[in-house]
Amino acid sequence: MHTVVRRHFTRSWGRCESRIRMPESLARLVLAGALAMGLGACDSSDGSTSDQVAEGKQTFRYETFGDETKWTDVLRLHEAISTVDPATALSVGLKVDSEALPPAVVTGIQNGSISLTDPATTLALLKLDAVVGVKGTVTVVNGKDTLTRVGITCALCHSTVDDSFAPGVGKRLDGYPNRDLDVGTIVALSPALDDATRAVFKSWGKGRYDPRFNLDGQNGPQVIPPAYGLQDVHSVTATGDGTEVQYWNRYVAVTQMGGHGSFSEPRTGVSVTNGSDDLVSSKLPGLQAYQLSIPAPAPPAGSFDAAAATRGKQVFDATCATCHSGPQFTDANTRLHPVSDSMGEPEASGVPSYASRSATKMYRTAPLKGVWQHPPYFHNGSAATLEDVVSTYNDRRSLGLTSDQRTDLVEYLKSL
Ligand code: HEC
Ligand code: HEC
Repeated sequence: MHTVVRRHFTRSWGRCESRIRMPESLARLVLAGALAMGLGACDSSDGSTSDQVAEGKQTFRYETFGDETKWTDVLRLHEAISTVDPATALSVGLKVDSEALPPAVVTGIQNGSISLTDPATTLALLKLDAVVGVKGTVTVVNGKDTLTRVGITCALCHSTVDDSFAPGVGKRLDGYPNRDLDVGTIVALSPALDDATRAVFKSWGKGRYDPRFNLDGQNGPQVIPPAYGLQDVHSVTATGDGTEVQYWNRYVAVTQMGGHGSFSEPRTGVSVTNGSDDLVSSKLPGLQAYQLSIPAPAPPAGSFDAAAATRGKQVFDATCATCHSGPQFTDANTRLHPVSDSMGEPEASGVPSYASRSATKMYRTAPLKGVWQHPPYFHNGSAATLEDVVSTYNDRRSLGLTSDQRTDLVEYLKSL
């Protein structure tokens, strides 16, 4: 607990200030002066600089950490992707960044002269870096555009688009979980898998991914969570495996994406090294700064009943705030919870407890800012809607809430 408090302190006063040993008020003054003179760029509450955030954004969107080694050399997904037309790609939840499309391509898609049922268009989109989270290298082989390398980035699972151009095509929304994405079906396209492994991938469905299956062989996919609203939450993942985002970013980059570098965790015995180079470590500070800079999205205007939400807050404060406490609506900075505190447990029959596979064997109280945006709920998505969440708590905890109180509570959750 000491470390948590210390980290919190360092994080909230920032790197710039903590390097300057002087009374806080004076330090602030000096800092303000330095900023005014353009000497520093200590512009965020976690002490990261705008340069770091900008670099982290590039990493989040476009960096593969060399994971082509896995997706191309091992899984040979470039072979499969070369035969997939854009309409099919959109149907498995891949998204297209409309801002990466030059005007001629926009016109071509609009007037139908560029076909969305031709795999050659997929290659053209990859060449433009327009497929969110997928990095392709297209080179001319025998006079023909050919996809020779393919890799993935964080944006594959943790970005979507606003559909402003067409369904699945629009401006990027980084940090939003892509709950349309059927990762399992995409990976199952690999010609390099045996039937049993392919069957596991195909069982996951949209918006779900098991980030431990390749290591422990157990099948219990998780809902892809948001990568926004994590500022000041010093406990990451559903099980609070790490105290900061970087811990898990390294885990995913190395053990899941197949990036070049190392990850080792004595609590689970996971120890993975890919390649003899390290393309991950140097990018983690920026990557973390970028994620922490992404706020949870505010509820859309008119999406909840304000009067009911005000009443619902009282129900929440009386019944839920013991765990969903503070500005992030979580006690994650001070404690984790036993499996029995999770309404996502027990898992569906045959599915292993997710906590049992983690480093902590416990669950983190989920932060609730922006919770309206990302159904389904709980680590495994067992509650489809906020109504389901509330009735699950009401039944399992025998809360005895009236139907009006339940409705009010839902409206309050929608307002966060
Ligand atoms: C194939 C899909 C996929 C990719 C790619 C992916 N993630 Fe995730 N991410 C997940 C899933 C699933 C979880 C939930 C893990 C858990 O809770 O145990 C997760 C969890 C997280 C969390 C924890 C969120 C929280 O509430 O604590 C962060 C942060 C995160 N990912 C960031 C990243 C970054 C950065 C990258 C790139 C290095 C990345 N992810 C790549 C699927 C993915
Ligand atoms: C004893 C502590 C505790 C109490 C009390 C509690 N929660 Fe939770 N809450 C948790 C934990 C732990 C999780 C994560 C469970 C999981 O993912 O399996 C969670 C998850 C959630 C989620 C899912 C968020 C997501 O991102 O999927 C919602 C919504 C939620 N709680 C709402 C409530 C409401 C409403 C109440 C009051 C009726 C409440 N909680 C009371 C501990 C608590």
